[in-house]
Parts: sequence; C-alpha cells; structure tokens
Amino acid sequence: MSAGEPEPGAAFWNSRYGDVERLWPRRPNALLSDFARGLEPGRALDLGAGEGRNAIFLAKSGWRVTALDVSDVALARAGARAAEEGVELECVVADWRDYGPALPFDLVVMAFMHPKPEERESMVTRARGMLAPGGHLFVVGVDLAEHGRRGPKDAGRLLTVERLREVLGGLDLLRCESVSYEGESTEGARPVVDVVAIARRSAEGLESPRPSR
Ligand SMILES: C[S@@+](CC[C@H](N)C(=O)[O-])C[C@H]1O[C@@H](n2cnc3c(N)ncnc32)[C@H](O)[C@@H]1O
Repeated sequence: MSAGEPEPGAAFWNSRYGDVERLWPRRPNALLSDFARGLEPGRALDLGAGEGRNAIFLAKSGWRVTALDVSDVALARAGARAAEEGVELECVVADWRDYGPALPFDLVVMAFMHPKPEERESMVTRARGMLAPGGHLFVVGVDLAEHGRRGPKDAGRLLTVERLREVLGGLDLLRCESVSYEGESTEGARPVVDVVAIARRSAEGLESPRPSR
C-alpha cells in the first residue's frame, strides 16, 4: 500500500486473514508483556487486536480486555482462542475511527498499527481520549530502519522515535525509543528493531502540593 492510496479496510484485512490459517505469531509482544507485568490489572483496550495474541495475554494476566479490530475474521480467531484458553475477551468489530467506549481504559495497546502518516496523530489522540486518569498508552511498531524487511511497504507508515514523540503530546512520556530485541514471528523468535512508546495520562484530582512560603 503506498501513500495516496485508500486506507485498507475490512475487506482488505479479511482477505489477508482468510488466505492463511494464522497471520501473526501466537506469543504476545515481548515489550508489552514486560511492561504489563508491572501494572495492576484493570480495563484494557487492544486497538487493532488481530488474532488476539496481546489481548489474550492481558486477559490471562487478570485484565478485563476489549479486543477491537476492523476484521471480523481476525476477531473470530481471537475469540475462539480465548475460549480455548479459558479467558474472556470483549470482541468489538469496528473501525477505530468510529469507536467510542462507554467507559475509559487503564491501558490502551496499539501494537503494529501502522496508519498512514496523516492519521498517526488522530489515532493516538483518539486512544489518549479513551484513557482513564493515570492510564497508560502502549505503542509498538516497526522501526523505519527495517524498511524493506518488515512492515508496510510505504516508509511513511513506519515508526521513528521522532514520529511518535510528535503525536504523544498531552501525556507523560515514560519511554520512547528504538529497541533491538528478539521479536516474535510465525516461525519463532527473530531479531527485530521496533519503536516503543509508553505514555501515561496524568492522575487528575491529585494536585501537586503548593510550594510553602
Ligand atoms: C499488523 S496487524 C497487528 C495485529 C495485532 N495488534 C498484533 O500485534 O498481533 C494490524 C491490525 O489492525 C487492524 N486494523 C487495520 N485498520 C484498522 C482500523 N481502521 N480499525 C480497526 N482495526 C484496524 C487489522 O485488521 C489488523 O488486524
């Protein structure tokens, strides 16, 4: 998909999923699992959940998880695997542009969502608007350095630290870096370079103490 072409929707993604038994690895993303282990479970949204590897990991770790994806084929797989593994997912077939949850989330995950550059900010802004006070936004995607090896063909969709920093205003940025690590693939672990960002919405109502005179 190159710049200027229409954004792929449900038909595109359903056909990608329909072509194979499994499109993405079963294991959760290692950067997400490391991060989430240190959090108190609450309500989580996996935005663009695909076949549910991250959503299922979170559900198994005690989170109440909403898995949202535009592809009903992907979410049917996520739901079936969750049931097999004895956890519950709320599966929502929707475009992230149209989704408005009734309640905020303590964690919003965007793993390997690579919107066109003009939509990167609106996607992050939408996710930010769904966070409860003190809630975290976790973003991981393919580093521009991997262009031609992994991820979308359109280099504009890949991530850099600067590209994420630009759109993460209004949140406390806890981490934003390019990371080389053993990533997951359908064939097993392999070295990858991704960009990860973790940002937190400030806990409103907890005013900082006034300076003493
Ligand atoms: C590269 S896959 C990543 C799947 C999953 N996050 C993972 O890490 O295994 C991107 C996912 O985003 C979904 N997606 C793409 N555009 C979307 C949109 N506008 N709204 C909701 N989901 C979308 C696709 O159907 C696909 O499942």
